[in-house]
Amino acid sequence: MKTLIIGANGKIGRLLAERCVKNDIPARAMVRTEEQQRQFEEMGLEAVLGDLEGDMSAAFDGCEQIVFSAGSGAATSPHKTLLVDLWGSIRAIELAEQKGIKQFIMVSSLKSCDPLRGPEKIRHYLVARHCADDRLIRSSLNYTLLRPGRLLDEPGTGHLNNEFDWSDTTNAHCTVSREDVANAITLLLKQPLPPGQAIDMIKGNNEIEEFLNLYR
Ligand SMILES: NC(=O)c1ccc[n+]([C@@H]2O[C@H](COP(=O)([O-])OP(=O)(O)OC[C@H]3O[C@@H](n4cnc5c(N)ncnc54)[C@H](OP(=O)(O)O)[C@@H]3O)[C@@H](O)[C@H]2O)c1
Repeated sequence: MKTLIIGANGKIGRLLAERCVKNDIPARAMVRTEEQQRQFEEMGLEAVLGDLEGDMSAAFDGCEQIVFSAGSGAATSPHKTLLVDLWGSIRAIELAEQKGIKQFIMVSSLKSCDPLRGPEKIRHYLVARHCADDRLIRSSLNYTLLRPGRLLDEPGTGHLNNEFDWSDTTNAHCTVSREDVANAITLLLKQPLPPGQAIDMIKGNNEIEEFLNLYR
C-alpha cells in the first residue's frame, strides 16, 4: 500500500520520509519544488510535485493512503492558515474521496476540538483545524486523526500520553517531540488502527506501541 506524504518537506514529514525508506514502507513525497523533489529522490523516495493551493491531483494517483502533515506554519499570515491548513486540508480529503483512496492519517493539533481553550495566538489556526477535522470525520474515509501538542525538535522520548491539563492554556506543558510523532505514524503505516479515531498526543509514560494499542 503506497502512502502519499503531504508536507513531506516539513519537519515531521522529513522524519517520516526517512523512516519509510529505512523500513521499506512504500511511500511518495508530495513536495513543492524541483529541488526538494531531487533531494527526496536522492534519499531513495519517490517524489511528486503538488501544491495544496494549486494542482495536486497527479501526486495522489497510484496511492492508497494519505498522511497529511502539511501546514502554513507560524511565520505566515492568517490568510495562509485559511488557504493551506483549512482549504488545503479539505481539498486533500475531497480529492482522496474522488480518487478512491480510503486510508487517511491527519496530523491535526491538540485542542482543535475546542479552539477557545487553546493558546490565544493560535486560536484562528485551531478553528481552521477544527473545521478541516470535521470534514474528515464526515468523509467516507477510514481516518486516524492525530492531535499532537506543541511540537518540539528535541529527541524523542519513545513515550506518549493522551491526558493533559486543559487549564494549561499556553500549552506550556502540553508538548511532544516531532520524532515521537513521526515514530508513531511509522507504526501506524505498518499496522493501521481501527478507523475513525482521534488521538491526543503529548509526551508521557506509555511506550509508543503500547500507547497506540490503547486504540486497538
Ligand atoms: N508547531 C506546532 O507546535 C504544532 C502543534 C500541533 C500540530 N501542528 C501541525 O503539525 C504539522 C506538521 O508540523 P511540522 O513541524 O512538520 O511542520 P512544518 O515543518 O512547518 O512543515 C509543513 C510543511 O507543509 C508544507 N506546505 C506548506 N504550504 C503548502 C502548500 N501550499 N502545498 C503543499 N505543502 C505545503 C511545507 O512545504 P515547504 O517545505 O515547501 O515550505 C512544509 O513542508 C503542522 O503543519 C501543524 O499543522 C503543529
